[in-house]
Amino acid sequence: MHAWLCENPIGVDALTWQELPTPQPGAGEVLIRIEAASLNFPDLLIVQNKYQMKPPLPFVPGSEYAGTIEAVGEGVTHLKVDQAVACLSGTGGFGTHTLAPAKLCMPLPAGFPAVDAAAFIMTYATSHHALMDRGQLKAGETVLVLGAAGGVGTAAIQIAKAAGARVIAAASNAEKCALCTSIGADASINYSTENLRDALKALTDGKGPDVIYDPVGGEFAEPAFRSIAWRGRYLVVGFAAGPIPALPWNLALLKGASIVGVFWGDFARREPAANAAMMQELAQWYGAGKIKPVIHNTLPMAQLKQAYADMGSRGVMGKLVMVN
Ligand SMILES: NC(=O)c1ccc[n+]([C@@H]2O[C@H](COP(=O)([O-])OP(=O)(O)OC[C@H]3O[C@@H](n4cnc5c(N)ncnc54)[C@H](OP(=O)(O)O)[C@@H]3O)[C@@H](O)[C@H]2O)c1
Repeated sequence: MHAWLCENPIGVDALTWQELPTPQPGAGEVLIRIEAASLNFPDLLIVQNKYQMKPPLPFVPGSEYAGTIEAVGEGVTHLKVDQAVACLSGTGGFGTHTLAPAKLCMPLPAGFPAVDAAAFIMTYATSHHALMDRGQLKAGETVLVLGAAGGVGTAAIQIAKAAGARVIAAASNAEKCALCTSIGADASINYSTENLRDALKALTDGKGPDVIYDPVGGEFAEPAFRSIAWRGRYLVVGFAAGPIPALPWNLALLKGASIVGVFWGDFARREPAANAAMMQELAQWYGAGKIKPVIHNTLPMAQLKQAYADMGSRGVMGKLVMVN
């Protein structure tokens, strides 16, 4: 097998493509031949030692991937050789093969291509858990999605529409806004050129959005929260912009509003039955055509460093997927 190896987590430039011994699965593991692996924001951080999870060195980055099972370890009964699966294990995806815990593998139904499957679990699970569980989104409510053309943002638009909500997508340029409306957003705001508060007032008859989905943080968090509707729910999903916002608490009091944390990874670990039910619903929605990953581009696995550069420069709309 070959893989991108991180021996020194000082950034993507230090990754090297190496031939490694093909491992055999231990108890509870499977060996997967990787067909596709997508980039998620944590993949950028983990190779710089800036992510909360710090794997022992050396490691192969690549949190999320899809492929075919080549061997199963002892005690694995629900998966078999030649079965197509997707997996989000945190590392291992940027190579030709990886060992994965069987319990983290999602068997793929026929008609679920590897490129879509590799770009599915992290974004759709996060956005479904955020909007439907933490945000208690109801049909007819209005959702504002910040960073709406990104990975979790595009998934949030599709899930909110599938739930019957009205979606306002906010992003940093006209091309990103156009993408958001092309996948279902009812309106868009270019927050580089428009005043976010004025635009939200105009689009909601002064009422404000009921739910705000924020994977960006930074300078737009406070104006967005100031615009939220009575009994609104502000979903704290991530801090792609860098700075972690601080809000005056009186704003929450004035709107009877909630600031709601979203941590899908821990939800999946602490509440596995609820997570499994959610994943089943998402797979059904995919089969019914209600949701479909937005694939910005597919690149050969050898071009991983180019993919990192594209994602790091805010140039990606939807998901970047590496293929073998
Ligand atoms: N809480 C959870 O359970 C959970 C799960 C998954 C991901 N996340 C977090 O969600 C965030 C987004 O993840 P993603 O995979 O959707 O990333 P992504 O595809 O790169 O999207 C992030 C978006 O943030 C905006 N952005 C603003 N300032 C940025 C900057 N300085 N650098 C990069 N992007 C910037 C960009 O949109 P504009 O250019 O339009 O502003 C970009 O499209 C990350 O912080 C990630 O860690 C959280």
